[in-house]
This record gives sequence, structure tokens and C-alpha cells, in this order.
Amino acid sequence: MNLKGRDYIATQDWTTEELQYLIDRSSELKGQFKTGKAHRLLQDKTIFLFFLDKSTRTRNSFEAGATQLGAHAHFIDASTSQMAHGESPKDMGVILSSYGHGIAIRHDLFPGEGNTLMREVARHSDVPVINMQCDIDHPCQTLADLMTMQEIFGRDLKGLKLAVSWAYAPSYAKPMSVPQGLITLMPRFGVDVTLAHPPGYELLPDQLELAHANAEAGGGKFEIVDNMEDSFEGAHVVYPKSWGAFDYFKKPEEGLALAKQYDNWICDDRLMKLADQNVKYMHCLPADRGNEVTDEVIDGIHSVVYQEAENRLHTCKAIMAETM
Ligand code: CP
Repeated sequence: MNLKGRDYIATQDWTTEELQYLIDRSSELKGQFKTGKAHRLLQDKTIFLFFLDKSTRTRNSFEAGATQLGAHAHFIDASTSQMAHGESPKDMGVILSSYGHGIAIRHDLFPGEGNTLMREVARHSDVPVINMQCDIDHPCQTLADLMTMQEIFGRDLKGLKLAVSWAYAPSYAKPMSVPQGLITLMPRFGVDVTLAHPPGYELLPDQLELAHANAEAGGGKFEIVDNMEDSFEGAHVVYPKSWGAFDYFKKPEEGLALAKQYDNWICDDRLMKLADQNVKYMHCLPADRGNEVTDEVIDGIHSVVYQEAENRLHTCKAIMAETM
């Protein structure tokens, strides 16, 4: 399968066969990494990593991954580039693509901004543009999540029950891109997804429509409930995490006051007992311990968060190796 030159901005832009191919390549690269076999597939190539938000996993998996592939990753942020002075996405796309072989961007803090910017950079770039998280999707995260689920449950996920639930966090308004990425991707692989959230935390309408359409086409199911308990009932995988309310992304104090009304939305042992006895707890991390989830759950036998985080390395390497 030749994916050279392709942008990776949303999983929806890729077929299920192409996404499965990326996961299979990720598994091969994981094996090579673990056995110490060299895989310098991008010798002397350069990728620019442009961050408009903080990161632990994404930055370090891309930087380490680029090194392991024989490439070099440049870290760029808004404060140390002319983006801070309003340099255009067009100039960024044209110029950076004349210097290297890939551009990766994280721009996820406010709805309506990041995805638009990435697509504009991509329109003017001769090299692939990779989404390291935007306001719509976090396709590097959800690919690693899908890989993790296939490692645990096997390649055929048909009928697997996944609960994607809002959970309380008393910090900033986290992007909606992870839950949106999950509800749109997983039904394409036959997974039955139940989304749970309190009033005010609705995801973007076009992403909800996509989730319904993808479930119809992919053989999975998609439904929305208004409490954690219903989503956890019989679930094989639970993925409770916080996200911001659309109306309050630019009004942080009001947003936190709304969230505080639902501070009992925490993933604890009581909820986990409602799920399947072999349920897996997943979270993209960082998790807000004591608010989104108890230590007993995230450090307990059902948690696969470190396997999930590790797979961020292997999947981002596959994306870079196949597109650059
Ligand atoms: N899951 C994730 O994207 O982590 P970082 O924000 O640390 O990159």
C-alpha cells in the first residue's frame, strides 16, 4: 500500500483498510524496536513539530520516533516562531515543506481553529501534514487506542462494547477531539459505542452525525446516554475523560463552575463493577487522578493506560514512515 505524501489530519480521511495497514505496520515497528532491530526508514529526513499546546506523549513519541527512524524532528512553538506575530498558514506550509519532509501540528485549545489551520497549511504544503491533535480529532491517539484494543481483544472487534464517558476535572477545558475521534473511528471497526455526558457537554453536531453514519456503514452501534452507569453496563472497554463545554472554552471560570456541578462523574470501583468482568480501563492521559478516576482504577488490574501510551510511539512511527 503506497501512502507516501498523504496528509493524516482525520481518521475519516482514510479508509479502514489504510488504517488497518497503519496498525499492522505499527505492530511490525513495535517488534523491531523491542528486539533492537534497526529500522531507519527515514534516513536524513526532517519533520517539523509545531505545538500550540503542551504535550508529554505526543511530543516525545514523535521526537523519539523520528530519531529511531533515522530522521530528525524540529520542535517549534508559537512563542519562538513567527506564528506569534501572525505568520500565515500558507507561508508556513510553503516554506517548511521546502525545508523538510513532514509537518506535524498540535492546535487543539479552541473549537473552530486547529483543524482549519492544519488544512490550510496542508493546502499549501508539498509534504504530508500530520494532526497531533486539533479541535475535531486526535487521530494519532485514536489509532494507538485501536491498536491497543486489537492487541487485547483480537483484530475483529465486532460487538465489543465501548463506553466513552465525560468525567470531571477541575482544570482547563480539555479538547473535544479525543471523544470525537473515538466515536467516529471505533464504529467503523464494528465497535458498539455508548457516549455519556451531562447536559452542556454535547460534542459537535457534525461529529455526532458522522458517528451515526459510520456505525450504520461499519456494523457498529452508536448511542448517547446521560449518565455514566448506563454507558458502563456490560462494557468491555471504558474510556472516561474530561472535555470542555462548547459554550465555555473562552470563559474558563464559568466553564469550571459548570463542570463542578458534575463532580460525581468519576470512574471508581463501583462503576467498574457494572462493566464486563474483564473490562479494560483506557485513558489518553494525562488523567486527573482523584477527579476523573480513582487511583484504585487507573493503577488497578483493569487499566491498560501504559500499553496505550506506549503504542503512541509505534503508531506515530508508522504514520511518519508510511507518509513521509
Ligand atoms: N494523549 C496525549 O496526547 O498526551 P499529550 O497531551 O501528553 O501529548
